[in-house]
Amino acid sequence: MIQPISGFSKLSKEEKIDWVASNYAQNKEQAKKILSTYWNTDSSVQQLHDEFIENTISNLYLPLGIAPNFLINEQLYLIPMAIEESSVVAAASKAAKFWLDRGGFKAKVLGTEKVGQVHFIFKGESQKLKSFFTYLKPILLADSAPLTTSMEKRGGGISDIVLKDKTAQMPNYFQLHATFETKDAMGANFINSCLEQFADTLKREASSYAHFTEQEKPLEVIMSILSNYVPNCVVRAEVSCPVSELVLSKELTPEHTAEKIVQAVKIAQIEPYRAVTHNKGIMNGIDAVVLATGNDFRAVEAGIHAYAARDGQYRSLTNATVENGIFRFWIELPLALGTVGGLTKLHPLVKLNLELLNNPSSEELMQIIAVAGLAQNFAAVSSLVTTGIQKGHMKMHLLNILNQLGANELEKPKLVEYFKTNTISHHEVELQLKKLRD
Ligand code: MEV
Repeated sequence: MIQPISGFSKLSKEEKIDWVASNYAQNKEQAKKILSTYWNTDSSVQQLHDEFIENTISNLYLPLGIAPNFLINEQLYLIPMAIEESSVVAAASKAAKFWLDRGGFKAKVLGTEKVGQVHFIFKGESQKLKSFFTYLKPILLADSAPLTTSMEKRGGGISDIVLKDKTAQMPNYFQLHATFETKDAMGANFINSCLEQFADTLKREASSYAHFTEQEKPLEVIMSILSNYVPNCVVRAEVSCPVSELVLSKELTPEHTAEKIVQAVKIAQIEPYRAVTHNKGIMNGIDAVVLATGNDFRAVEAGIHAYAARDGQYRSLTNATVENGIFRFWIELPLALGTVGGLTKLHPLVKLNLELLNNPSSEELMQIIAVAGLAQNFAAVSSLVTTGIQKGHMKMHLLNILNQLGANELEKPKLVEYFKTNTISHHEVELQLKKLRD
């Protein structure tokens, strides 16, 4: 039986690999070979990766693809996307090209407010706490001044701090709810440092506040942390065209296509089972660019899904209308992103991807990423209401199947040619490969 290990983190990388491969892999030597295949041959790049996280034993690469021809606010972009799923980059590129000829995407940042909270327990009169907060607020700001100086120089800082009484939901529970502007930084470190300072100041001042009783003074901070729910850090992206220009299939008239897209989006507005898949397709685009630009996709995911459920029901992030002969399709979603700090300068490929995007500000990146999500959804819904997605998806997936089946470089083009006119399924590809070999 495998014994638990203590001090794993203290082992050298080679020792860690040896321990993992010896105890858990079916074939130790093969496991070691696979792990080392994915090491970067440039030792300085590998060291960077080793130090991004803890206990690194290898790298898990994702393909980096490019979706060109995105016209956003009259500027032409190519969008780098890091994703393992076939069809996503092709779908984004197709949507970009479609809208390039129809005026492109218009995007606008509606707000950039970030949020953080100090959650605490106060066993006393809430009216007294309110008076205390009036006294406390300038001290909170003064105490955190050393932390905010450089952010203020860049035009950001603490926007406001309010006291929230949450005792109706949980006895004695209150919050300091703070809002921040963090400019081109995602701001997690800045916000968390400010919050921990607020917590210290809060405890210190409460312990000596003359109007509190001895029972009220030891106010207890439960935790201080930023929120990844940022409903006021929101971007909107839109496309529109005369319905007559919505030519997407030979089988459907543009009017019928527009009507079906509007209905499909409406279904995702009212039906959570569909909304989740609809938004998953949007996240194919969003996450791929978030990852390629070194941003925190878990934070983005959590924030976006909470936003999609903000009225109590999970709904589509996109909307579509036809009014006065104009088809309009738009997305509105929260995105807390950084184009400085974090991995942005540290990871050479992330740095290059930002360069390919013309080194955007975080507001520009919000717009680009919202557009990537909208394009993805347009492509998915267009396929779903016309041909269905499997035809295009299986075409893109064909190479994966051929690779899985071990097709060689001579066999692959022959089978790709064959399946241009034949229906693709795993079984059929297997059969045709066998036939070819026989
Ligand atoms: C697949 O990754 C994404 C789709 O299912 C999205 C959708 O259904 O809208 C195609």
